[in-house]
Amino acid sequence: MVEDKPSHETSRGSKFLGCEMREHAIAAIPGDGIGPEVIAAGLEVLQVLAQKDGNFRLRVETFPWGSDYYKKHGVMMPGDGLERLRAFSAIYFGAVGAPDVPDHVTLWGLRLAICQGFDQYVNLRPTRILQGLSSPLRDCKPGDLDWMIVRENSEGEYAGLGGRAHRGSPEEVATETAIFTRRGVTRIMRFAFKLAQRRPRKLLTVVTKSNAQRHGMVFWDEIAAEVAKEFRDVTWDKMLVDAMTTRMVGKPSSIDTIVATNLHADILSDLAAALAGSLGIAPTANVDPERRFPSMFEPIHGAAFDITGKGIANPIGALWTAVLMLDHLGEKEAALRLMQAVERVTASGLHTPDLGGKATTREVTSAVCDAIQLANALMF
Ligand code: IPM
Ligand code: MG
Repeated sequence: MVEDKPSHETSRGSKFLGCEMREHAIAAIPGDGIGPEVIAAGLEVLQVLAQKDGNFRLRVETFPWGSDYYKKHGVMMPGDGLERLRAFSAIYFGAVGAPDVPDHVTLWGLRLAICQGFDQYVNLRPTRILQGLSSPLRDCKPGDLDWMIVRENSEGEYAGLGGRAHRGSPEEVATETAIFTRRGVTRIMRFAFKLAQRRPRKLLTVVTKSNAQRHGMVFWDEIAAEVAKEFRDVTWDKMLVDAMTTRMVGKPSSIDTIVATNLHADILSDLAAALAGSLGIAPTANVDPERRFPSMFEPIHGAAFDITGKGIANPIGALWTAVLMLDHLGEKEAALRLMQAVERVTASGLHTPDLGGKATTREVTSAVCDAIQLANALMF
């Protein structure tokens, strides 16, 4: 982890024509594959939104880190990368991964280095069926699937602990150790209960695999029961992760907030995104709730080489991600307005091929910009 210094005041207010003008410093890391296409779309929409709002502006700096940088420099980001990001209010991240660089290199060299270096211990994954989209689940209407997945993002199966010995020999052995700490599990549990408490249904499902994994997962169950005592008004239940997949498919409306380990929630959130219509729309926030470090916002779809450069990547994942970022920056009204503009466009039927349509990234992005302008025109 980066040495803990007092947090920087990176979102500033200044007086402009008698009005308070807030400025947020955004570090954009478009990365690889379709990352640059969707981040460009997101930044364009964000600037239109800021201009229309008039009360805040975004100062964006773009960092060319990722697999191309790796091929030139042998590292995914420079050695002082975290120090350079530290002063920003938020990081807007595209995707990483390249067909000719091993995935664990790209992942550990950039995305995980930022998540773990900045102790972004919460990974938040809202999932719902946006207007105009449909679930592959028969009879599942938009209101039936409205989930908030809370993924532990700092330890567990992604702790990076393990090793290999006797490489290439018949005796070869590899270990991959999951780490669960009282501090790590308690803080994610508390975050999840608090979040569930703020949602109308006040309903939390704690996912583990404590029948088979009798140490770390039983520990999770015990800490869940301890933390639950602080949140008497939250109804909570426990599910084994395998049973949770069938519940997500069979009884989606019985679920509201979900908390799970790093790996379990990784898997469940892909299922969730598919059940909500497409991986192309799903957003995520890697958050340091204590705001000691900048938080990082990214669509969950990844690099998607099969469609890179074709201009048909779905920008909705990056735009919904921008909604989470605005919310985190305190721009609640702008966040709401952007979400409404996005849903006006999804409702209109203008869909990219992953949603069964023919629209391009450009067309969807322009339509969202138009929807923002129109909404503002109607307001004044
Ligand atoms: C995600 C992704 C990543 C993860 C991959 C790219 C390593 O699947 O954000 O869900 O597993 O964390
Ligand atoms: Mg994943």
